[in-house]
Amino acid sequence: MGKLTWGEKLKRWRKAHDEQYAKAIMSPPEHTTLLQAIPLPGVILIMGAKGMGKSALAHDIAEKFHKSKRLPAVLHLPRVPAAMQKQIQSRLPSWNKVVTSTEQWPKKCVVIYDEAAQSAHARRTQSGEAVELDNLMSISRQRQQLIIFISHHSRKLDPNVIRDIDRIVWKTPTYAHWIFERNELTDFVLKAVDFFSKIKGDKARQKTTLMMNFHDFQFREFSNGVPSYWCERLSHLFEDIKSTKKGGSYF
Ligand SMILES: Nc1ncnc2c1ncn2[C@@H]1O[C@H](COP(=O)(O)OP(=O)(O)OP(=O)(O)O)[C@@H](O)[C@H]1O
Ligand SMILES: [Mg+2]
Repeated sequence: MGKLTWGEKLKRWRKAHDEQYAKAIMSPPEHTTLLQAIPLPGVILIMGAKGMGKSALAHDIAEKFHKSKRLPAVLHLPRVPAAMQKQIQSRLPSWNKVVTSTEQWPKKCVVIYDEAAQSAHARRTQSGEAVELDNLMSISRQRQQLIIFISHHSRKLDPNVIRDIDRIVWKTPTYAHWIFERNELTDFVLKAVDFFSKIKGDKARQKTTLMMNFHDFQFREFSNGVPSYWCERLSHLFEDIKSTKKGGSYF
């Protein structure tokens, strides 16, 4: 066989990469455990439909890291009034603290950044807060932090946040999530939609987590529960915060 032309080499290279990509998307996810799946330090993004267990998973991770590694956690709630912070804090264990600014994130901790899109919004990429967040993500490694971002889908999120993600974790996305997802993530979301469509019943889906590891390009699945301190009030945190802004009361 004669020498390959550059065009032929390029074709082969594309084909090899296409196969690696197709394998990552199409092979069944490996079973693992929460503690094995979640990196420390690291940055993970939890996405999925409303009420499918995103917040409960973040708190379950925090509790498991606290129990096994003695790590504290912070629940990052920027712009929440002091009285409300106190009420939310009363529902959390002492090792999990409500904070309102990134300066309050300690070294060696789990950061829960729930409804991340509220302040890491895509249209605010140039704002001071987004820039600061980008810096924090890059130093999370030195500070031994696990940063957990939670959002319904990634279109709402700052591209800087997306770029630094180590793992994407899904709790039951819908076809609508697939349509509205960033182009580079659509195949992964469709895989997640398919995976959860085979699980029958919301309860069973809430207990199941699908994860994409962007370092070894592998899907993995594990099951999780709710943390020991969980209550429905914590689940409805953001609705309650919004209604309080309109004059309602919290808890
Ligand atoms: N692993 C689980 N095992 C059993 N029940 C669960 C689990 N995860 C979630 N649930 C149930 O589902 C409810 C909703 O979960 P959660 O608040 O975490 O959803 P969410 O995805 O954060 O919703 P939202 O998008 O509205 O913030 C919980 O309050 C709990 O009752
Ligand atoms: Mg939630």
